Amino acid sequence: MRRGIAVALLLVGCGGGSGAVALPQLGDPNPGLSAGMLAAFDRGREIFVRRFARADGHGPDFNVDSCKSCHEIPVVGGSAPLYRNFFLVGRIQPNGAFTPAMENNQFVARTFSYERPKRETIPADTVLAQRNAPPIFGLGVFERLSADEIAANADPTDADGDGISGRTNIDGPLIGRFGYKSQEGSLIDFVRGPFFNHMGLTSDFPFVPPPGQLPAAPQVAPPATPLVDDDGVPDPELPDADLVDLVMFLRELAPPAPLPMDATARRGEEVFLAVGCAKCHIPNLKQSGAPALAYTDLLIHDMGPALADEVTQLLASGSEFRTQPLWGVRHHAPFLHDGRAATLDEAIRLHGGEAEAVRDAYVALPQADKDAIIAFLETR
Ligand code: HEC
Ligand code: HEC
Repeated sequence: MRRGIAVALLLVGCGGGSGAVALPQLGDPNPGLSAGMLAAFDRGREIFVRRFARADGHGPDFNVDSCKSCHEIPVVGGSAPLYRNFFLVGRIQPNGAFTPAMENNQFVARTFSYERPKRETIPADTVLAQRNAPPIFGLGVFERLSADEIAANADPTDADGDGISGRTNIDGPLIGRFGYKSQEGSLIDFVRGPFFNHMGLTSDFPFVPPPGQLPAAPQVAPPATPLVDDDGVPDPELPDADLVDLVMFLRELAPPAPLPMDATARRGEEVFLAVGCAKCHIPNLKQSGAPALAYTDLLIHDMGPALADEVTQLLASGSEFRTQPLWGVRHHAPFLHDGRAATLDEAIRLHGGEAEAVRDAYVALPQADKDAIIAFLETR
């Protein structure tokens, strides 16, 4: 893995006035934000890096004290090494449902506690699944995609007979797009979870304006699924306005910029397309007309028994996972939902299920072509 953060230059202009415009660096906001939106981004970033204290409502049970604990490599918004993995703990019910098995009806095991002398024990007869933090750059692009733009690539019955189906996951009225099983449809749905699960911070469900619009003050909080705990700090512990600012930060955190390709990387891109990687890692999802070079379809695919983890989330079965976006893949390791792959080559070889034929085609390539695919990925 290359750890350096390169300054990528996009050459623009034609005719007489050609010049180079610097693309945003990893961790920067999207270019061209209004002053108001930039201020909301900065406030949201402060919440993301803030180390919460007990007086803020942190705990009583927790894993870490900030969002960035798991999203800071190589910069804030990035991913985390294996030691930050957390455990989902549940039981499979006779009807197939995955239900929480930790105390207080929790899915996530919490290692630390202000009240408990020892760590919470993981009950017997439970299903345990690890999760490794993914990078969170560019997620605003996914939030802006319409339901139709995502559903257009689904092929649930494999009508074209290529062995690759791809289904949408459904989160209430929304099409899922966030999380390893596309189990969440919006960023506000997602972020209340880690605050509660890893930090014991409770929140209500604030009104969040549509993408591109600034938060209006004061916030309106519809009484939808508030979270509560009993640590003596009044719930909700997080002000609605802070949550909304955090969503503004996530929406406007710019996508990772690719590096220019040399001849080997260009060859790698050709082979990537030729062996069928792009059937799932679709290079360019439309986003209201603008390109989004994310290399994902945001659909869930059956990845076979080796990657399966028995965790069902909404429509996603234990073996289904969202096609992981490959933009910015050069900035992070380890790979896959539990971080079990240390290298890109290993991550590809662990593909199974719907991806088996494409994986086999990759394995059968001459070494120079495999190396070219890796060289291509190292520019993304
Ligand atoms: C203990 C480590 C950990 C902490 C702390 C953590 N995250 Fe994450 N984050 C993860 C993991 C693991 C996933 C993938 C989880 C899944 O889908 O099951 C994730 C996924 C996400 C996603 C969705 C990414 C995608 O590609 O769809 C967002 C957004 C996110 N985190 C934001 C946050 C915010 C905001 C906080 C602080 C409130 C936070 N995270 C704290 C580990 C962590
Ligand atoms: C059937 C759909 C499908 C095909 C085809 C496919 N992938 Fe994937 N890919 C996925 C899914 C789903 C994941 C996430 C699996 C997980 O998290 O366990 C993934 C994960 C990855 C990752 C890990 C990314 C990360 O950040 O963790 C890499 C690298 C990758 N794929 C590359 C490739 C390459 C190269 C090819 C072609 C040889 C390919 N994939 C073909 C669906 C597919």
